[in-house]
Amino acid sequence: MKIFIDTANVEQIKQAYELGILSGVTTNPSLVAKEGRNFEEVLREIADIVGELPVSAEVVSLKADEMVAEGEKLAAIADNIVIKVPMTMEGLKAVHRFTQKGIETNVTLIFSANQALLAARAGASYVSPFIGRLDDINQDGLQLIADIAEIFDIHGLPAEIIAASIRHPVHVTEAAKLGADIGTMPFKVIEQMVKHPLTDQGIERFLADWESAKK
Ligand code: E4P
Repeated sequence: MKIFIDTANVEQIKQAYELGILSGVTTNPSLVAKEGRNFEEVLREIADIVGELPVSAEVVSLKADEMVAEGEKLAAIADNIVIKVPMTMEGLKAVHRFTQKGIETNVTLIFSANQALLAARAGASYVSPFIGRLDDINQDGLQLIADIAEIFDIHGLPAEIIAASIRHPVHVTEAAKLGADIGTMPFKVIEQMVKHPLTDQGIERFLADWESAKK
């Protein structure tokens, strides 16, 4: 499973990119608003940092014509911009149009296998089921990943499944086991994945032994 970072924070993207583990970036309007900066400027910086890696930028229009106009402007910022479109009738129309124009899309706010199937059929390059938000309402987010992976596999659908709304490292492991192509996660979850108390203790003990051997 590939690792994407889910943030519009340029410093965090730089740090994750330096680790060599990153395969892409996703943003959304809430994450961009949190930074309090000009969206296009932030997008340009992110696209520069990650080179060729895909960067999802979300449209905020709700009508297909407006989504396409907005998305074309965002896509013109850099070659690696993927247009993120919400899972609605108008969104699907827009995805179809973007596909005809050769612009990649990521259909977001997916909460059912049928939504993922429709998004893939409309030509989306990526579908983003939100597992954390399903868990929040007492539904099984990881089961949705398993269902979509099974359907895409049976029918040879090429859209990549992004496990989104990841809240903790167990989501990452389970989504990877269930067949998600990508997990997009906050920087905090990447840090949590790096950490293990036995690794820290091990380093401490090695260094202590090293020092006492010198005496
Ligand atoms: C995915 O592309 C979304 O930006 C994201 O994963 C949403 O996560 P949240 O439910 O933690 O806001």
